[in-house]
Amino acid sequence: MADASSLKNRKILLIIGGGIAAYKTLDLIRRLRERGASVRAIMTRSAQEFITPLSVSSLTGEKVYTDLFDLTDEAEMGHIQLSRSADLLVVAPATADLLARMATGRADDLASTALLATDTPVLAAPAMNVRMWLHPATQRNIAQLRQDGVSFAGPNDGDMACGEYGPGRMAEPLEIVSAIEARLAEKQGPLKGVKALITSGPTHEPIDPVRYIANRSSGKQGHAIAAALAKLGAETLLVSGPVNEPDPLGVTVQHVQTARQMLEACEAALPADVAICAAAVADWRVDNEAGQKLKKENGGLPELHFIENPDILATLSKLNHNRPRLVIGFAAETQNVIEHATAKRARKGCDWIVANDVSTDASGAGVMGGDMNTIHLIKAEGREDWPQMAKAAVADKLAQAIAAHLTQTKGQA
Ligand code: C5P
Repeated sequence: MADASSLKNRKILLIIGGGIAAYKTLDLIRRLRERGASVRAIMTRSAQEFITPLSVSSLTGEKVYTDLFDLTDEAEMGHIQLSRSADLLVVAPATADLLARMATGRADDLASTALLATDTPVLAAPAMNVRMWLHPATQRNIAQLRQDGVSFAGPNDGDMACGEYGPGRMAEPLEIVSAIEARLAEKQGPLKGVKALITSGPTHEPIDPVRYIANRSSGKQGHAIAAALAKLGAETLLVSGPVNEPDPLGVTVQHVQTARQMLEACEAALPADVAICAAAVADWRVDNEAGQKLKKENGGLPELHFIENPDILATLSKLNHNRPRLVIGFAAETQNVIEHATAKRARKGCDWIVANDVSTDASGAGVMGGDMNTIHLIKAEGREDWPQMAKAAVADKLAQAIAAHLTQTKGQA
């Protein structure tokens, strides 16, 4: 059985369907919370016939969500955010009707909409009358949902509240807890077992305690790559400079400020199978950083002396010991993109370079901070020109290319 602490700080969105087994869900909430998980709950309209939102919110310690059209909730937290911010969606009890709506992609209430509006993993604990469970329609829905990646806890055989006997009883709370722990521990996908290290965002290089040198990097592309790698099953460490992006789900994030801290965090993370340096690391830092705020009253202009920062990409690429099998750099250029990027690949000693043009377009919108990117993937064996895509799509395609490369070169030194 999984370690009880594996639920610590995990976020569960519990979707409570309308069945008599809903009373067991109250105990499930307690079991999850005593293991350190936080639980938010959505109740369907019929769930509220069996147990009250008041008892659920007393146990979760959170507001209970019931209505798709509650505008206050949409302002506080939209249904999309509600399901995406969770580590796992748990449907308990999953009634025949709710399973049918999930299987067909309905979105006619808050519960079904939250389930449709996310790619967060889903675990369902079915509960229904034995004949409903055995009905070909339900079995068809279950098969479809399994194919869609939904996992199941139960149902169990036994006496049912309706007086019949057979499969259809909701799994017991502790059985559901074990299934939740197993599902959260599970990493699937072509990058399962792969350790990925990625840098993202700018660095801030201090001038004095209140001023720093920075650049326009938003971290959007690097963060999207970290999320894409984790989605394919990689154990992913993201070393992020100061950004406004939220920490991606399923990724361990270490926040740093300066290039030196970023390098230190990367070196501490080794060994890794793949390293992707997407951060816009400041090339220089101020060597004569002031211990106190520089004052203009002192007259004259401050004299800043610059010193070169460590090059994280070159350092990782040139390691003799523990060099990741695949090291990928970025080349953000404003002219002669391909030539500069090809030269950069050789100079830094990395395996691939993701090159992009960061000059502003006619509208004045730039790639830095924007949502779109047009990249060229430069490898020893040649170049791939990718069409303009959303940064999330670039991230998915790059993660797939990484998975294909690591699979092909598996076992090679
Ligand atoms: O040298 P330049 O900044 O153009 O190279 C860009 C690539 O090098 C990016 O992959 C960036 O993350 C990486 N880099 C780094 N450390 C630096 C400077 C750049 O890792 N100090």
